[in-house]
Amino acid sequence: MNATKKFLSVDSLKPGMVTAEAVFNRFGSVLLWENTVLNNSMIQHLKNMGIQTVAVLSEKPEVTYIQKEGKESIRQLQFKFEYEMNVKETKKIFNEISSGKKIDINEVNPIIESLTSTSGTNRLAIDSIMEVRRIDEYTYYHSINVSLLCIVIGKWLKLSKQDIKNLAMAGLLHDIGKTKISPYILNKPGKLTDEEFEEMKKHSEYGYNIVKEMEDIPEEVAAAILTHHEKEDGSGYPGGLTGDQLNIYSKIITVSDIFDAMTARRPYKSNDTPFKVFELMQHGSFGILDPVVLNTFLKNITNYYIGSTVRLNTGEIGEVVFMNKMDFSRPVVLVNNRYVDTMVSKTERIVEFL
Ligand SMILES: [Fe+2]
Ligand SMILES: [Fe+2]
Repeated sequence: MNATKKFLSVDSLKPGMVTAEAVFNRFGSVLLWENTVLNNSMIQHLKNMGIQTVAVLSEKPEVTYIQKEGKESIRQLQFKFEYEMNVKETKKIFNEISSGKKIDINEVNPIIESLTSTSGTNRLAIDSIMEVRRIDEYTYYHSINVSLLCIVIGKWLKLSKQDIKNLAMAGLLHDIGKTKISPYILNKPGKLTDEEFEEMKKHSEYGYNIVKEMEDIPEEVAAAILTHHEKEDGSGYPGGLTGDQLNIYSKIITVSDIFDAMTARRPYKSNDTPFKVFELMQHGSFGILDPVVLNTFLKNITNYYIGSTVRLNTGEIGEVVFMNKMDFSRPVVLVNNRYVDTMVSKTERIVEFL
């Protein structure tokens, strides 16, 4: 697709047009990212914010931001159905491995096919990742979610189809080594003892050994499973490898893994709002996560929260209208016809995501 860019005055913008460049306000904060499909409310907000011109694409790109719809479409229902089927299949594979069976790529491939084809609309994938998961089945939902996030990030990074397929597989199987960890440690609600944590850390190597027995498993996929808890600065495990020794699949899994774990509703921690998670990832992951992967992820995923409803500490309810590039956790919120920039305001902040 060879979409060209054209500059239009805000008054000539129409819903459905797609931004070709990010739109900034006069303080340099991003109001809209590139590749955002404009809707009426966004256009109105741009006018209210005094924006004059916007660069739009002459054709629609493949991956875009889609405004959340009120009711579930048939596509959403189909996606949910496939998602649950994939969770069930993943559970079957994990259980078979626990009982000593060898992993068979023919069982894994249909799940990968389904995940890569159903995630055609990133919105559906991201919505289901954010939904409440069943606590007792955490690992299976987590595996599907990490795989979906890997696919979505791979697309945002414009990786090849083959890379995305490999990534989907690496994401799906990244925690397969947990099948060799005692259920007592896996399900322990409190903090693990040092010995228990050492045992838990072995799941990367166990997982590597399991997938190495698979026929036709690409070496980079196995390597990513082995290294998914390594960190850019060398502080991870099992090898203490640094960023330059990690492949792109491994870096993408690490970002996906952390995001899913942080947004999951686990029994021992109340879940953080996505905004809080963005803040922790943006400011707390220096030296841990690959900056290019992290920024691509944050920049794109935060777009999906435009339009969401939030509660401020003042008790007022508002709608997220723009994201702040400097701090993804502090968007601009429209409250009773008033724009509250939660990055600038000293008194108002988001406390709840509704
Ligand atoms: Fe893991
Ligand atoms: Fe994980």
